[in-house]
Amino acid sequence: MDVGSQQRGQWTSKIGFIFAAAGSAIGLGNIWRFPYITGQNGGAAFVFVYLMCILVIGLPYLYAELALGRYVHKNPVGAIRAIRPGSAWVLIGGLGVVTGLGILSYYAVIAGWTVGYIFKMAIPNQITFGEFVANPYLVVSLFAFFILITILVVYGGVQNGIERWSKILMPLLFVLLLGLIVYANFLPGSGKGLAFYLKPDFSKITGKVVLAALGQAFFSLSLGMGLMITYGSYLSKEDNLISSGFYVALADTAIAIMAGLIIFPALFAMNQNPAAGPGLVFQVLPAIFLHMPGGVIVGMIFFLLLSIAALTSTISLLEVPTAYLVDEKRVARKVAVWIVGGLTFLIGLPSALSQGAVSWLSKPIVGGMEFLSLMDFVWGNISLTVGAFFLSIFVGWVWGAKHAATELQQGNPAFARWAPFWSFLIRFVTPVFIFIILLNLFKFFG
Ligand code: PHE
Repeated sequence: MDVGSQQRGQWTSKIGFIFAAAGSAIGLGNIWRFPYITGQNGGAAFVFVYLMCILVIGLPYLYAELALGRYVHKNPVGAIRAIRPGSAWVLIGGLGVVTGLGILSYYAVIAGWTVGYIFKMAIPNQITFGEFVANPYLVVSLFAFFILITILVVYGGVQNGIERWSKILMPLLFVLLLGLIVYANFLPGSGKGLAFYLKPDFSKITGKVVLAALGQAFFSLSLGMGLMITYGSYLSKEDNLISSGFYVALADTAIAIMAGLIIFPALFAMNQNPAAGPGLVFQVLPAIFLHMPGGVIVGMIFFLLLSIAALTSTISLLEVPTAYLVDEKRVARKVAVWIVGGLTFLIGLPSALSQGAVSWLSKPIVGGMEFLSLMDFVWGNISLTVGAFFLSIFVGWVWGAKHAATELQQGNPAFARWAPFWSFLIRFVTPVFIFIILLNLFKFFG
């Protein structure tokens, strides 16, 4: 029985869900974060570990979130409450809601830069990336603009807002990336970049590399904060969670790999440093656009599509805390959206100002990271990884892998054969693997 689905929104079609979930997954994580993290972690060996993490941890864990979400039709907090009322597990749902705010707070800052770059491409006599991000008026107003657009879309609710946008624009991004791959790999000197990206040197794999890869896998698939619980809650029992989830993961991984196939060849062709950090994509791509025939237009279209890819992700990030307020606190949706959006803006200001605008925020705080990178590490990596650790235990042991597998079989009876294998992954492999990787983290900080 579809409890509560009359009052709650539902996706209009299977394909609508796939586009919306893929819209959440595909974003700055693929095109901005994946290349810069890959560059910092030595290239191909990282890519290999990343792909393993997606396959062995990310995809099975995605099914756990989707199953729980569709079973209870609730936000992460409500979902946990429905299974284990009055237990401390609800804190994990709460962590997810807070993580949504945390990620959105700096994510929308970067998304603001991409909007700025649509226009920056058109202006000759470029200011540098460094000058651009150090201008407080520019970055704060672009950040505010992005939050505002996100609020306005989420305001419209599940079907009108989220679904419609994703359907049209994601395929367009795909085609543009394909074209850019071809262009970048014809640049003289690009071969070295391709080797850096695709020829693994396995001796480079360290605990730090694996943590970065695992965190990136969760970040990119929008996992670990209950987002897929929330999106799964808008699905109906006829939907096939297994195939839908698989397409989402496939599309997300493909876009990230494609982004790398552009960035690294171009980067090496221009003799730049792959470990440049969060500014990497904003420094490398405009430089290739400027040398390319018709590059101004291509560059503008690229940053426009990237902004939209980011928007379908910020929408989803805003949706989790919003769904929490609507379901659990009975706040009207239109009010909830403004509360969450406003709060995010305040929390995000230090990140926006941490790239040169305010000097003490821009200095390394811990581990060589300035404020924004630190937020990205804390929320975008650690918090998601910790969240996934507890949620995999929750689904595998507390709710029970059996119940979850039964849910996954609805809409895909053939899954019965795979259920024992999946249960093993979610009960043992995922939590143990994450635990070991997190232990390593404490070693780094002494
Ligand atoms: N997956 C998104 C991206 O790669 C970011 C995101 C993380 C969105 C977590 C929602 C939840 O850009």
